[in-house]
Formats: sequence, C-alpha cells, structure tokens
Amino acid sequence: MKNRLDRLFIDPNREDILYFLETDDVGELEMLYAFADEVRKQFVGDAVHLRAIIEFSNYCRRGCRYCGLSKDNLQVTRYRMKPEEIVATARGIYQKGYRTIVLQSGEDSSYTLDDYLYITREIKKIGDLALTLAWGEKTEEEYRAYYEAGADRFLLKHETSNPELYRRLNPGMELAERIECLRALKRIGFQVGSGIMVGLPGQTNGSIADDILLFRELGVDMVGCGPFVSHPQTPLGEADNGGVDLSFRVLALNRIALRHVHLPATTALSTLGGGEMRRLALERGANVVMPNLTPENYRRLYDIYPNKKRTEVGSTDFREELETLVTSLNRFIPDTPY
Ligand code: 5AD
Repeated sequence: MKNRLDRLFIDPNREDILYFLETDDVGELEMLYAFADEVRKQFVGDAVHLRAIIEFSNYCRRGCRYCGLSKDNLQVTRYRMKPEEIVATARGIYQKGYRTIVLQSGEDSSYTLDDYLYITREIKKIGDLALTLAWGEKTEEEYRAYYEAGADRFLLKHETSNPELYRRLNPGMELAERIECLRALKRIGFQVGSGIMVGLPGQTNGSIADDILLFRELGVDMVGCGPFVSHPQTPLGEADNGGVDLSFRVLALNRIALRHVHLPATTALSTLGGGEMRRLALERGANVVMPNLTPENYRRLYDIYPNKKRTEVGSTDFREELETLVTSLNRFIPDTPY
C-alpha cells in the first residue's frame, strides 16, 4: 500500500490510479487523503488562492448533452454582458480585494476579436491582477492575440479523455481538436487549466485514470474536476449524478500525481455534497476556491447544472466565511495575483 502511494508520487501508472479509484478499504483511502494533504503542503504550501469568476454570457453555439447552456435548451433566458460592463464588473471585483479574475462564458460567437482584446487590455490596466480566460475553442492566432494583450491563463477542460464518449457527449466536436487547443495554449505561454467531469454517463474508472495521466502529459498548471450533475433540461436529465466520493479520490490522486498544480475545491462538489465539501476538499489536495462574482441579475441564468447558484456566494459574507474556514485550517489567503 505504501509502495503504491510512493509509486503514484514518483511515477504514476494506470493500474495504481485505478486501484485507488476503486478500493473500498477505508484505511487506505484515509492514507490517500493524508498523503495528498502532505504533497499539497510541500509543493504549493498553505496559501488558498481565490479566483473571482464573472460569467459574462450564457449564449453557446455548442450542443453538449450534459450542459444546461446548450444551444438546444430553448428554456434558457440568454444574456450577454457588453464589453464595458464586463470591465466595470472586473473593476468592482478588484476593489473588493480579489487579485485573479476569471472570465467565463459559453462559446458565444458574437464577440469579435477586438471585443476580446479590448476586454483583456482594459482589465489588465485595472491593477496588479492575473486574468484567466475561459471562453472555449479558438484558433491559435486568436489565443496568441489574447496572450499578447496581457491575458495570463486559459481554462479549457477536456471533459473526458475517451474519444468515443467525448464525441457522444459533445456532438460535432472532437477530442483531438480540444487537446490541440490545450497544446497551442501551452506553446503560447499561458498557464493552462483543464479538467473533467467525474461520473459522466458511460465513463469508466479506467478512463478517469487515463484523464489523470493526460493532465500529466499535457503539463497543465490547473485541474478542475467536479462531479457530473444531471440537468433536467438536457438529454442526460434522467442520468445519475456523479459520485462525491469518487470526485474526492480524483482530487487527491491529481495532487499526488501532478504535485505542483492548482486544484480548486469545485462548486459542483458543494452542489451535491453541501457546504462541508469545501473544507474536505482543502484537506484532500485542493488549494484554490473560485467564488462567483457574476452580477446578481445574471447569476441565476448561468444554469450549467441545477442548484449551482445555491452554493455560490460571492458576497462579503462569503469572503468572511472563507477567511474563517481557511484560518481554522491554519492556512491563509494571499493578497498577490499568484
Ligand atoms: N455537471 C457538472 N459540470 C458540468 N459542466 C458542464 N455541465 C455540467 C454538468 N451537468 C462543467 C464542464 C465545463 C464547466 C464550465 O462546467 O466541465 O467545462
């Protein structure tokens, strides 16, 4: 058992990852989580980084079968923030003390390259902050232009490393193209984030093991993995949710196998497991929390999966609650953009 943990850390292989995804020995799981916490402390320290998210548009040209924002969901009230409004929102967030801003949206084709460059430049002028973009698949030239305009990081989850499953869940999309985007982003110099949904209908534990090995091969800097949450207004509305327990195992395995990587305590985990999940995640490898600071009037419309809003609070109270939590874990929230 100790050998397996050491091997995971030194040279992770599929069989050992699979073993920890499946063991029902409670003692072994506790050792896995304790080791993940040790690796977290040694490689990324006690800082808990806050990344403030602005969900600036829920229009999407894609028809992903798990996602509530799919173009095929005609029940969604769509919204799109204007570039100036996005920048003003970012300014307010900076004034609240956040030093990383994440801009996330559906794949909304109506923003031009100039819009994206304007948004990027203006936000970077606000102050000493890191800017993360998460607006989907673009060409390498476009990615390069964002980078040259000052963007620091890009999030693009590969969702699953199984090409057939990927094709089935994301009609008209190809895993190979997704991976090529991630490689292009790395080449350009972005800090790159990927991730998967845990417990997708049709996903096997073997394919989750492959996902973890793929994160390693790509050399990603951030990995967000949360449970799949079935959304009634999608074709997967009747499917079972992903497991909270399995999601924790994936988190801990990512920390051990990837070491120096940013791992968020995901919102999807709190959605299914309740508020306690955030603390547990921070004790099992996570070092990032991503509060949602989308303006109140839009937030409920960014309905990727049900009850997402319930667990997302970007208010001052939430900030205080987080400070209390982080302090009680003998950790701290830094005030630099790192
Ligand atoms: N359940 C959980 N996560 C989801 N995402 C999309 N739909 C769902 C769902 N039903 C995740 C995807 C995407 C991110 C923005 O939200 O991983 O990359």
